[in-house]
Amino acid sequence: TQHRLLLLPGDGIGVEIMAAVRKVIAALETHHGLSFDLGEDQVGGAAIDAYGVPLADDTLALARASDAVLLGAVGGPKWADQPYGNRPEAGLLRLRKELDLFANLRPALCFDALADASSLKRDLVAGLDILFVRELAGGVYFGEPRGIETQDDGSRVGINTQRYTDAEIRRIAVVAFDMAAKRRGRVTSAEKSNVMESGLLWREEVTSLHAASYSHITLDHMLADNCAMQLVKQPKQFDVILTDNLFGDLLSDEAAMLTGSLGMLPSASLGSSGPGLYEPVHGSAPDIAGQGVANPIAAILSLAMALRYSLDEGAAADAVERAVDRVLADGYRTADLAAGGAVDSAKVIGTDGMADA
Ligand code: NAI
Ligand code: MG
Repeated sequence: TQHRLLLLPGDGIGVEIMAAVRKVIAALETHHGLSFDLGEDQVGGAAIDAYGVPLADDTLALARASDAVLLGAVGGPKWADQPYGNRPEAGLLRLRKELDLFANLRPALCFDALADASSLKRDLVAGLDILFVRELAGGVYFGEPRGIETQDDGSRVGINTQRYTDAEIRRIAVVAFDMAAKRRGRVTSAEKSNVMESGLLWREEVTSLHAASYSHITLDHMLADNCAMQLVKQPKQFDVILTDNLFGDLLSDEAAMLTGSLGMLPSASLGSSGPGLYEPVHGSAPDIAGQGVANPIAAILSLAMALRYSLDEGAAADAVERAVDRVLADGYRTADLAAGGAVDSAKVIGTDGMADA
């Protein structure tokens, strides 16, 4: 099968890391017999320059017709004066919304060669492999009513509403259980059912879905504050962590710092049908854009996630991840990974060099 892949490099280092991803795609075609139908278009500031808007309708149509979309990064000082709603970031938000991407997958993976760069002791993080499944489309960031209201006595109140329907909880839990089935078969569901009604419903729905359809998966419930502690105390106890939008935002950022640099972190956002969106966690890094020094590994690992979750090419995904592990074990580093460490300066390489390696 030919995989239809849309590349949206975007802005800043997005362009450089996507060129690196193309090299990996070419290697998969040459050495692993994969076949891609590659499309490329603009998003973010580059799309404002080309089409006047951060995500054109034609680009959205290309995305819908793809098996997976790979995005670099959007944003930069050049577009700082754009009106709100026509900023580069609005292109990414529109893409997520139009593709109905409600499941955000963020791995916290610690490559052995980088374990000493963690803020925790090597033994705690070496070999760490957690997958966060974060609900992305609901919860307190979107719940109504919301706003800042002035009371009769003149005082003001800021209002947000944490709100989850049973259907929203079940559809994200399905993703978590399905992911766990392909991994180590364990889901930890994190909420605050002790103090929140939405958390109580979350626990009830996850429990009944588990009993009905996923009894082959091990399910634990953990209060989210305890989960935050356990992540630094004994992070290797986790396989898949299932959680809502707010707790997922905080816990996945916490776990990311156990594993090293921003330049290493991939992500995926999935809907119930249609293409997934794969992108590094980092932004367009205007401070280093155009210098050829950006770390392409987050983008390359995002490609690996696309291979695994949208293209059903698990073996190729494994091969990409093994290649990253091997190159790091051989001592090669981009500048962001070399800072402050005992690294052989001859092995500090740029974006292209890392992709070639
Ligand atoms: P950033 O992630 O672009 O950069 C933060 C720091 O990390 C910078 O010092 C940068 O040089 C470094 N860095 C990031 N990625 C790197 C890589 N692959 N290799 C080496 N070093 C790397 O975040 P920042 O500076 O807050 O935002 C810059 C622009 O990116 C803004 O316009 C922001 O809105 C946008 N942004 C876009 C995102 C996206 O497209 N999903 C996500 C985050 C920010
Ligand atoms: Mg965050």
